[in-house]
Amino acid sequence: MFSRKARTPSPTGPLPPGKYRMGGKHFKNDVAFVKTAVRDVKRLERYAGLTADSRLLDWGCGAGRLAVGVREHLGRIADYHGVDVQPELIDWAEANLAGPGFRFTCVDVSNERYNPDGTPERTVAADPGSVDVFYAYSVFSHMNDEDTRAYLGLIRQALSDSGRVFVTCFVEEDVPGWEENPEGYGPLDWKGRLHCTRFARQHFEEHVSAAGLAVDRFEYGQETDGQSLYVLRPR
Ligand SMILES: C[S@@+](CC[C@H](N)C(=O)[O-])C[C@H]1O[C@@H](n2cnc3c(N)ncnc32)[C@H](O)[C@@H]1O
Repeated sequence: MFSRKARTPSPTGPLPPGKYRMGGKHFKNDVAFVKTAVRDVKRLERYAGLTADSRLLDWGCGAGRLAVGVREHLGRIADYHGVDVQPELIDWAEANLAGPGFRFTCVDVSNERYNPDGTPERTVAADPGSVDVFYAYSVFSHMNDEDTRAYLGLIRQALSDSGRVFVTCFVEEDVPGWEENPEGYGPLDWKGRLHCTRFARQHFEEHVSAAGLAVDRFEYGQETDGQSLYVLRPR
């Protein structure tokens, strides 16, 4: 029989310090942090065709939670590229997680919550058609409506023809198209700019369609704080 410990082995390398872990209290626990990272890499394999030969873009990577999952589960990858607007998180990831197949880029673009003084020049830091798997966990859950529409277009441009996008965000039926910090919604008391941004499902899917993407998979409400999961593909 395997013990519980044997099924959650110690990580093979460094983990980001707690203060650099974005996305909720549950990520402060090392075991949960690594488990969710590995879970997501396995889901990328199943839903988005991720392999060790893929070019994977982790947009809004924080300090590299998904990179830890790739390291623990696949061991190697052709190209993992983590992109974020917070220099201190990217500096930590560069110093501790970068190496052959693993790289990080800090982009100084504006996000009212995470980088209010950034430039309005949007970028996902990828050449056209250069990404096989695009991962955006809890990024559209902190983004204004105009940026969301524009970034979905940039994601489509970055995606290869057989590429897939794995996205989480808050969507509900019969609510306004886009709302910031909706009162009485979800498990938290939302505070500050873009703490929670919620879309009407139809409104978000109109952005998806306008970007030249289509919905491949939708799972309602099972992600962090009740976000939903989308897998998108080129139309
Ligand atoms: C809630 S955290 C999620 C972190 C990570 N995806 C995870 O699941 O562990 C959202 C991240 O998106 C980043 N972010 C927000 N707007 C961005 C943008 N325009 N470009 C790149 N990163 C962005 C933030 O800096 C933050 O690290």
